[in-house]
Amino acid sequence: MTFKKNILCIGAGYVGGPTMAVIAWKCPEYRVTVVDIDPEKIERWQSDNLPIFEPGLLDVVRKCRSRNLFFSTKIPEEIEKADIIFVSVNTPTKTFGEGKDYAADLQYWEKTAYEILKYSKSDKIVVEKSTLPVRTAETLEKIFKANNQKNINIEVVSNPEFLAEGTAIRDLLEADRVLIGSHNTPSGQQAAEEIADIYRHWMSEERIIFTSIWSSELSKLVANAFLAQRISSINAIAALCEKTEANVQEIARAVGSDSRIGDKFLNASVGFGGSCFQKDILNLVYICRQYGLEEVADYWEGVLRINNYQKERFYKMIVREMFSTLVDKKIAVFGFAFKANTGDTRESPAIYICKKLLEEKAVLAITDPKALENARKDLAGIDRNVSFVEDPYTAVAEAQAIVVLTEWPEFRSLDYHRIYSLMKKPAFIFDGRNLLNQEELRQIGFNVFAIGKKPLRAI
Ligand code: NAD
Ligand code: UGA
Repeated sequence: MTFKKNILCIGAGYVGGPTMAVIAWKCPEYRVTVVDIDPEKIERWQSDNLPIFEPGLLDVVRKCRSRNLFFSTKIPEEIEKADIIFVSVNTPTKTFGEGKDYAADLQYWEKTAYEILKYSKSDKIVVEKSTLPVRTAETLEKIFKANNQKNINIEVVSNPEFLAEGTAIRDLLEADRVLIGSHNTPSGQQAAEEIADIYRHWMSEERIIFTSIWSSELSKLVANAFLAQRISSINAIAALCEKTEANVQEIARAVGSDSRIGDKFLNASVGFGGSCFQKDILNLVYICRQYGLEEVADYWEGVLRINNYQKERFYKMIVREMFSTLVDKKIAVFGFAFKANTGDTRESPAIYICKKLLEEKAVLAITDPKALENARKDLAGIDRNVSFVEDPYTAVAEAQAIVVLTEWPEFRSLDYHRIYSLMKKPAFIFDGRNLLNQEELRQIGFNVFAIGKKPLRAI
């Protein structure tokens, strides 16, 4: 079969895989290939044992794999064939040198730029899908221009991704918006239109937003900063609620029902995790400082300060309420993923909390429906007193406390009478997600401590 265009995506991760699967499904006339430097990952994409867990993803992949969706490690050949190249490689926080712990580490990104240059023999549109510092396109264009002996046109377009893990397929199919940033030149506008044509297969025109390339790059960082800011705002208020006997869920409802504020992203928690909120805010803070905007940088850094404070005060509450010692006490940890419906544990608050509990010499039994494989990796080397168990009832046997760190709905429907009978007494529950019916638990006999609520003590 001949295809209208060849789309390539470099980076077969949480963004590249699902995004390209949906594009391939919705655009059968395009040939879509996803490449990665990690052969094991590519092999898993070619099987039904996908490298990431994402509800609905396998169904979409199965619909189009080998039809117009391909996974490969042959990066040079695929670059040569491609008309449009999405780059969705990782852009983590730098861990060394200038900008250490703040700036985005662009080494993977830059390597792909040189590879695109090296293997391109015809004009290309290069799409920034990764989240990048504002004005990255300028760097990319300089690299392309300075090395363009072949005289080909490489047009850079920004098209950041807004999907959230656990709901990626729905977010891609029913996106609030698709953002396309390009230069205000005829070739820039034409490239933006070509990218918009892909999304027009399933997105209505009014949801496609065209902006300058710089606005598009910066909008992505700002969107994540705003979302994270809401969580830190409600978490800060949760601390005040615990002092005043106000209830943070009642406050979220009262405040969020103002249509100007809205009710989403107001769930107080043990702190936000995930691979992006922290990294993107750190990057925003770094960029502001580079431009001498100290006050602006400090303002956004406050969002991270509250997030760290939230994690810290949660673990301190566990120590304090369990009579100031955790030595040899078994604690069942319910959830290790950074949120429900994913196996991803990157920057999960569970990592910090479990490390702190282990420093207190507690014995942990961690249970999670999807994240045990990653939990094992995250705690490798410090896991002498940790067991990883599939069954929550096994995790709670002889435990003195349950610590809820991920809002998996299945934790809500467990038999807490049975759980109580399996535990040592007094039994504690620390609900870091306001997931459980706390009053019911107190009636069973638990001492219940939840974020932003007054403690419910049975003893
Ligand atoms: P990821 O780590 O899951 O995937 C990135 C992939 O790129 C990896 O498989 C890695 O092996 C591959 N890679 C790195 N260098 C390469 C190279 N030179 N050639 C080929 N492959 C290479 O990362 P992710 O979560 O998919 O995030 C990718 C980007 O998208 C980041 O900038 C992130 O901020 C952004 N983003 C992520 C999400 C999310 O939910 N995870 C959502 C929106 C945006
Ligand atoms: C987030 C954004 O929601 C996406 O739009 C964005 O594309 C993505 O980051 C990214 O750039 O990587 P994600 O991190 O997958 O998506 O998940 P979220 O649903 O945003 O949750 C992030 C964290 O905040 C989780 O730990 C979650 O438990 C926590 N959270 C979320 C709360 O504590 N309270 C809330 O009310 C909402």
